[in-house]
Amino acid sequence: MIKILFVCLGNICRSPLAEGLFRARVGEAGLDDKIVMDSAGTDSYHAGQPPDARMRALAAERGIRLDCTARNLRKDDLLEFDYVIAMDHSNRERITRVHERIDNATSRIFLMRAFDSVGKPDAEVPDPYYGDNADFETVFEILDRSTRNLLSFVVKEHYL
Ligand code: 4NP
Repeated sequence: MIKILFVCLGNICRSPLAEGLFRARVGEAGLDDKIVMDSAGTDSYHAGQPPDARMRALAAERGIRLDCTARNLRKDDLLEFDYVIAMDHSNRERITRVHERIDNATSRIFLMRAFDSVGKPDAEVPDPYYGDNADFETVFEILDRSTRNLLSFVVKEHYL
């Protein structure tokens, strides 16, 4: 089983959408028995909460269900998941710091937009939390493209 973890700050906006979009693409590709996904936040402010209502509404409009519960990134995630995908540089730094504290951590850490066909590979998925509807739409478009390309990458990498 290939395990992929999406990580943002609060685990209520960007990473739940990345997880939901990716799950939908994996389902469409008939790969549910080969790839599993989850999401987490580098902070625990919103732990236990459902995804942000604005993100849930936008995703629902586009046929994507978000039903995760926010949780904090755990040390063990760096042992359990094959790929840990950070939404921005700050998330990536936090993940890398945890990774460095674990001797046998095997996760590969990537920035989400390394898989985007638009923009630079080190671009970030912007935090929409204090933004408006247009900011949420932008995040949707970025993650829609990036999760499709991430799936193509994983399929090739693992000969699926
Ligand atoms: P996320 O968005 O990291 O995409 O889930 C945020 C959610 C909450 C906060 C910041 C970003 N916050 O400051 O509470």
